[in-house]
Amino acid sequence: MQGNPPLDFLGELRRTHTCGQIRAADEGARVLVMGWVHRRHDLGGIIFIHLRDRDGITQVVFRAEESSRLHEKAESLRSEYVIAAQGLVVRRSPETVNPNLETGEVEVVADELWILNESRTPPFPMEEEVDVTEEARLKHRYVDLRRPRMQRNIILRSRISFAVREQLTSMGFLEIETPFMTRSTPEGARDYLVPSRVQRGRFYALPQSPQIFKQLLMVSGFEKYFQIVRCFRDEDLRADRQPEFTQIDLEMSFPQQERIFEVVEPLVKRVAATAGFQVEGEFPRLTYQQAMRSYGIDKPDLRIPPFHCVEDLFPGSGLTAEGLPLVAVNIPKTGTLSRKERDELKAFGLERGLRVYDDVKRLERDFPEPMAAVRKRTGAGEDDLLLVAGWPGESKGQRPSETVLQACGQLRLFAAQKYNDRHKLLDPRDFRFLWVVDFPMFEWNEEERRWDAAHHPFTSVHDEDLDKLTTAPALCRAKSYDLVLNGMELGSGSIRIHRRDVQARVFAALGLSDEEARHKFGFLLEALEYGAPPHGGIALGLDRLVMILAGESSIRDVIPFPKTARGTDLMCEAPSTISERQLRELGISVKKSE
Ligand code: AMO
Repeated sequence: MQGNPPLDFLGELRRTHTCGQIRAADEGARVLVMGWVHRRHDLGGIIFIHLRDRDGITQVVFRAEESSRLHEKAESLRSEYVIAAQGLVVRRSPETVNPNLETGEVEVVADELWILNESRTPPFPMEEEVDVTEEARLKHRYVDLRRPRMQRNIILRSRISFAVREQLTSMGFLEIETPFMTRSTPEGARDYLVPSRVQRGRFYALPQSPQIFKQLLMVSGFEKYFQIVRCFRDEDLRADRQPEFTQIDLEMSFPQQERIFEVVEPLVKRVAATAGFQVEGEFPRLTYQQAMRSYGIDKPDLRIPPFHCVEDLFPGSGLTAEGLPLVAVNIPKTGTLSRKERDELKAFGLERGLRVYDDVKRLERDFPEPMAAVRKRTGAGEDDLLLVAGWPGESKGQRPSETVLQACGQLRLFAAQKYNDRHKLLDPRDFRFLWVVDFPMFEWNEEERRWDAAHHPFTSVHDEDLDKLTTAPALCRAKSYDLVLNGMELGSGSIRIHRRDVQARVFAALGLSDEEARHKFGFLLEALEYGAPPHGGIALGLDRLVMILAGESSIRDVIPFPKTARGTDLMCEAPSTISERQLRELGISVKKSE
């Protein structure tokens, strides 16, 4: 720190303009601006300061010939000092106009300068293009957040939250808060627990979602609820997952699935428009079965064409085992691959139990007619990458067909991401929303040898599948739906069970005894006995939505203070140890890890 000249007080100083606001039309105006020294350019007798605030950058000039006192003071300015400057707006001469700044036609010739605070040399420069490690950024997050990209992202997030509130309120939804200190909720991750001091040995759980409470609000007759709400899940973290994240959560009474879509589609379109993107038309729909059969995944990226099952064209060929799919994958405009790339693809397939027939020329020689039909079915032309994959060996796993389809889905994504020029096929500004509907009601848990709820245990089964709950759980379809965007699950919801008798049957199918069910969710079960209306809803991941609209690839870049993959907040160093006294008060003793 320089420590001199002495710092000035803000006193009654008041800004007249923001740094992004001043234009040629303000020529001759006397302005007072405040902000951070973004850049300082010292030409001896004249000092140029790029002064930055939230709104933009304005150039402020200090000339020795006009005031040596002021010029001297300006000489002490360094990056990220906080200042106020007053002066006249003048037009720049044509050759000094800066087209990169919105205020670049003018500058402020200062006649007064107040240094409101100094700054240590920042840990990294503020310029956008400078590459900084994420560790450094997260450690000094308050500085990182000053950078233009992060400012843009956080401002976009705020505007999106506002648009959500406006849209849902205008549709008759009420914003209602639900508790953070509660008991375990059923979203399938581990809970974060909060010990009670007053009731030793008892714990609150932080909600994995407001699921039960929003259902109770429907029982209470509020009919349309929403909340932009923090959720907490102790699960393995990835680029699109954080231990605390935000949902746009909503619930309605008396809805069919279509009524939910009628709310969510305009909501999402409005949010996209807030970010400057027009999304047109109804969102396409695929059943879970169709998605698996055409994309090998329940969250298909529609920017890449579907694959096609072609085993019917190759009877007795041995390219895939009897009864297993043979799949043709077409990645448009990718051309032919090098030997090395083809080996890579084959290895990728093999790791997933898949045989990739990458030599299409040879296939066309050996199977000319079937391959002509494959080209027709897939629409693959000469400059597209056509791959055929199956599994000729013994079939493995519980559902071998599904395993092959899933592996082909991964192969399709791998090839598109790796070999297609990103900006042709996987344009991040090409937003392809879709609904995936009719998920299976249950998933088989091999480890525990029982059925788990695929969504959560309060999800309704299709009316016509009600009879199969215990006799054929694998065939039961849920009234559940996911909103998918460019290969990412953006939201998930369902029509809920509103009848106590049906809920009891679903718990039975899940192998939950009456007693267990009552222990876990007793209050909800009881509420269902007091006139619960038919209801349903959805939750969208706000962080993921903002991430995609901001063109980022990690949700950490749209969350002001995120955690690392190990769940650490590098800035405030959480989680941290606590004092012996706190532990004693809570009646907790910590075992050393084995
Ligand atoms: P689900 O568990 O599918 O559904 O969550 C809904 C959406 O929340 C987002 N999301 C996450 N985002 C960031 N980090 C995480 N760890 C994380 N986990 C989930 C995803 C996801 O689609 N109660 C139900 C909703 C309902 O049925 O109404 C629920 O929470 O975008």
